[in-house]
Amino acid sequence: MSKEIVLSGIRATGNLHLGNYFGALSKFVRMQGDYDSMFFIADLHALTTATDPDLLHANVKNIIAEYLAAGLDPEKATIFVQSDVPEISEMYLLLNMHVGIGELMRTASFKDKARKQLGIKSEGDDIEKEIIGNDSNKRVSAGLLTYPTLMAVDILIQKANKVPVGKDQEQHLELTRRFARRFNSFYGVDLFPEPTNFDFGGAPVKVPGLDGSGKMGKSEGNCIYLIDDEKTLRKKVMRAVTDEGPKTPNQPVSQPVENLFTLLQLTSAPEIVQQYRDAYADCSIRYGDLKKQLAEDILKITLPIRERILDLRNDDATIARIVKQGAEKARERAAKTLAEVRHIMGIRPFA
Ligand code: TYM
Repeated sequence: MSKEIVLSGIRATGNLHLGNYFGALSKFVRMQGDYDSMFFIADLHALTTATDPDLLHANVKNIIAEYLAAGLDPEKATIFVQSDVPEISEMYLLLNMHVGIGELMRTASFKDKARKQLGIKSEGDDIEKEIIGNDSNKRVSAGLLTYPTLMAVDILIQKANKVPVGKDQEQHLELTRRFARRFNSFYGVDLFPEPTNFDFGGAPVKVPGLDGSGKMGKSEGNCIYLIDDEKTLRKKVMRAVTDEGPKTPNQPVSQPVENLFTLLQLTSAPEIVQQYRDAYADCSIRYGDLKKQLAEDILKITLPIRERILDLRNDDATIARIVKQGAEKARERAAKTLAEVRHIMGIRPFA
């Protein structure tokens, strides 16, 4: 029996942080040997928000180095760059014919990013008006709107079954399933499997920020990066937002402190987490100790990766060889699916 296909990608928008690592990359590494695995760098998706050409290219290279440094192995997984597979762009055009503007506009990540691009602070739901509005300096790109179509194509063109992503991507995955179903039923075919998230039995993670906010993210400016040096990392953790400490036993935990516990849970042994939970419950906790512990345990994970990143990111020859080989493999299946899609939709040769 052929192995199930796993596919996932990360946008080329900067260095990878702990959210990317625990939400995605660490899972890629654990899965790579057991599945027909494909991991890519989403440079076309990066264009929906970042447009500096030199930076984009550097980011692509950087993420490949980070993939390899974290343990992705080109012998076990196909590692490729999205734009090296032009079939994706063509199928993106074709699939867009079956995607509604309304359903794209309702996507949470679109609203969020559109709001940022338009400089709207409030969460009010009137952004549709702002988007359509007639101030030509305020523009939300069609590329941003159709981000979920492109993501669906990444997945469907490889007929992937499992897509390991963090919690924030679940809505996009839901749309992918919907588009797959719609295409299959519209044309009466059974072309696309419906992909699901994957998390080794647990729930998909949302890695919190250090600033008390719900999510670690590049644009939130609250990240710990895999490339952070020891001093920087310790400083960031020691400055993490907390509160004035528990005053009564078993007091509910505030969001910023719960965030630290979540990070501790991801990086430390269960008995250490329990020890700090107990200390919180009986009011003996010292946040300084908790932070020191957390920094120590994060460094155990990130420092070896950092060293390998520094080695790899100047190794242009290795990077070029890996993505060339990856692109060939990725294009093979993509070309086959695209040919099927074209035929199904009625784009057929005369001869
Ligand atoms: P990107 O670059 O925004 O995120 C890459 C991966 O990191 C995860 N992630 C998090 N997980 C948990 N907690 C966080 N704070 C956190 N921040 C980021 C994301 O869930 C994601 O798994 N749209 C995708 C890129 C993509 C893709 C695809 C993924 C494009 N095409 C096809 C899978 C399949 C994205 O958001 O990347």
